[in-house]
Amino acid sequence: MDSSAIFAARRNEVMNDFTVKLLDWYRENRRDLPWRHSKDPYRVWVSEIMLQQTRVAQGTDYYSRFLRRFPSLEALASAAEDEVLKYWQGLGYYARARNLHAAARSMKGVFPATYEGVRALKGVGDYTAAAICSIAYGLPYAAVDGNACRLFSRYFGIEEPIDSLRGKRMIAALAQEMLDGKRPGMYNQAVMDFGSLQCVPASPDCPACILGASCKAYAGGMVGRLPLKTKKTPVRPRFFSYLYIAKDGFAYIRKRTGDDIWKGLYELPLIETDVPLDMEGLLRQPLLLRLGGRSPLSVSFAGSMKHVLSHQVLHIRFYEVVLPEDAEAAGVLQSFICVPEGQMEDYAFPKPLYQMLSERKKAASEMKI
Ligand code: ADE
Repeated sequence: MDSSAIFAARRNEVMNDFTVKLLDWYRENRRDLPWRHSKDPYRVWVSEIMLQQTRVAQGTDYYSRFLRRFPSLEALASAAEDEVLKYWQGLGYYARARNLHAAARSMKGVFPATYEGVRALKGVGDYTAAAICSIAYGLPYAAVDGNACRLFSRYFGIEEPIDSLRGKRMIAALAQEMLDGKRPGMYNQAVMDFGSLQCVPASPDCPACILGASCKAYAGGMVGRLPLKTKKTPVRPRFFSYLYIAKDGFAYIRKRTGDDIWKGLYELPLIETDVPLDMEGLLRQPLLLRLGGRSPLSVSFAGSMKHVLSHQVLHIRFYEVVLPEDAEAAGVLQSFICVPEGQMEDYAFPKPLYQMLSERKKAASEMKI
C-alpha cells in the first residue's frame, strides 16, 4: 500500500469507529421530536430555522402550533407578516420569522431541491442548508453547529479556537470526513443529539460515554477546557422605560422599525436612555413634559425586569401613565396606533412586554371580581 492508501484506510478506521458508535447510540437514544416524523423539505426547513437559536424543549410547542396554522409553503407565503410574527412571539430572534416569510414568498410554491438553491434562501446559512438537505434529501453535507463543534473539538482534541477561521475549517473538515454518506440526515441528527444529551458543555458523564475510549480530550484531561474560544462577545447594556398610556379604554402602541432588535413587533411608547432612569429623570423627558402640558401627569412605577439577549442586556422599567382629562394626547402621540385595550392580544409583542401585559391583564381581571 502506498502512503495515501494507508492514510485513507486509517481514516476509514477512525470514521468507522466514531460513526458506527455514534449511529448505534442514536438508534437507542434519539429524541422523538415532532419534526422528525416527516422529510417534507418545508417542514424540515421550518424546524431548522426555528431551532437556530432556540432550545429543543421550547421549540417543540412552537413548531407544532406554527405547522398547524401554516401547514404548507403556500399557507405561509399567503399569510401576513404580522400573523407570522404573532406565531413567533416569545421565541426571540424575530429576523428568523421575517426571513422565513420572505423566503416562502420568494419560492413561488416550489421548495429548492439542491444545496445551492436551499443555501440561497433568505435566513439560511451553511449549517441550516446542510441540515435541511441531509435530512430532507439525503444529501451528504455535514451540519456543524455548536454541538458539533464541542463534540469534534473534544473527540479529536482540537486546540484551535472554534471561533477562528482555522478552527472552524478543521472542525468542518472532520465533521465531513466522519459523515455517513448513506445516512447523512441521521448522522447529523445523531451529532446534534449526542452534543445535547451526552457531550454536554458542563460536566459531561465521560466514564459512561460510548466514545470515551477514543476521545482525545478525555484521555488528556481536557474535557473542561475544550472547545476553546478566542473572543468574549461584549455585552451592551440598554435602559428602556416603557409607558402604558391608556385613555377611554384605548392604549397606545407602535410597530418597531429600523435596524434594531424586535423589528416588526409592537411595543408601548418607549424612552431609551444610555443610563438608568429614575422617576425624576423620567418626568423630565420631553415626551412626558409634552404629555403633561400644563396639567399634572400621574405616573406610577409598575415593575422592572432584566432581559438578556445574545449581545445586549435590557434593563426594562414599566410605568403606568394616566393622562389628565384635558390632555392633548392626540397630537403628542400621533405616531402611535390607538388600540382598544381588549385587542392588544392581536399584536405580536416582544417577550418582556407580552409578559408585562399578561400580568397587567390578569391583575385587572382579578380586581374586577
Ligand atoms: N437542532 C437543530 N436542528 C435540530 C434537529 N433537527 N434535531 C434536534 N436538534 C436540532
